[in-house]
Amino acid sequence: MSRYGKVAVLHGGMSSERAVSLKSGQAVLAALRSRGVDAHGIDVGRDLAARLAEGYDRAFIALHGRFGEDGCVQGLLEVMGMPYTGSGVAASAVAMDKMLSKAVLRAASLPTPDFRLLRSEQDLATVEALGFPLILKPVSEGSSIGVSKVLSPADLAQAFRKAHAYGPVLAEACITGPEYTCAILGNRALPVIRLETSQAFYDYDAKYLLDTTRYHCPSGLSAQDEQAMQALAWATFKALGARGWGRVDIMAGADGAPYVLELNTVPGMTDHSLVPMASRAAGLSFEDLVLAILSETLEAP
Ligand SMILES: Nc1ncnc2c1ncn2[C@@H]1O[C@H](COP(=O)(O)OP(=O)(O)O)[C@@H](O)[C@H]1O
Ligand SMILES: [Mg+2]
Repeated sequence: MSRYGKVAVLHGGMSSERAVSLKSGQAVLAALRSRGVDAHGIDVGRDLAARLAEGYDRAFIALHGRFGEDGCVQGLLEVMGMPYTGSGVAASAVAMDKMLSKAVLRAASLPTPDFRLLRSEQDLATVEALGFPLILKPVSEGSSIGVSKVLSPADLAQAFRKAHAYGPVLAEACITGPEYTCAILGNRALPVIRLETSQAFYDYDAKYLLDTTRYHCPSGLSAQDEQAMQALAWATFKALGARGWGRVDIMAGADGAPYVLELNTVPGMTDHSLVPMASRAAGLSFEDLVLAILSETLEAP
């Protein structure tokens, strides 16, 4: 494992997903160490460049959300000439911005729910065309933070303010489900997971707190539909220019047709997270998965 040199596991960070990232980082660190990698955790702050200059050879990015998943840390690492896991600057930035992502998906003729961009409360008049219920969400957040399902016009303003606390807002036509997610590792799509929640949608509580959330892998899709969904996840990953690993969130419409919600370029990596679940179904332990992600940094980008 000495071929990896000294590895910095970047976690924590300065986003609203800091708590999740601390957990991802701890799990990644433990896995790398158990496989004999000389790995050290760095809780990312403004002093990151100085910390990385302490003799590190490569970085495992276990940061979620702003600064860590959006191309910022990737840019710093590019400038320092330090190899890092996952997607590069541009793909990270585009995937973190759900508006830009949807523009790319549309250009690539990949299905994604109808949408409107809302910069201010005045723009709310434009969403009625999407019909109700609809979904309001921040353009650049994760972990379902600031997301609302809006049942009627009366609830729009409040949902808008909740999302707008995190910047520009995306209104999306509501897809009726079921909900799926498909992990990408290297050059292949892993088995699809179907999510079942007791909440109105897969919100923060359903993701991290409630034990009523159910995960099905195998997904229950027919072999043909499973393959089609994996192909859609792979096409999304490629269209957005992603690299290394990621996870594509997909929902099925009333007619069963799939719609892409988003690509996560640094998905959760705790033992309970979805990429580890899918990789286990593909025969890879958590440690195997973490090493597979790290090993991509040995190849020239
Ligand atoms: N268009 C939509 N229709 C129905 N549910 C949605 C839609 N968009 C988001 N959701 C629900 O909100 C959750 C979070 O949305 P997502 O776009 O994946 O953002 P995040 O980055 O917060 O995970 C999804 O997992 C899904 O349950
Ligand atoms: Mg999501």
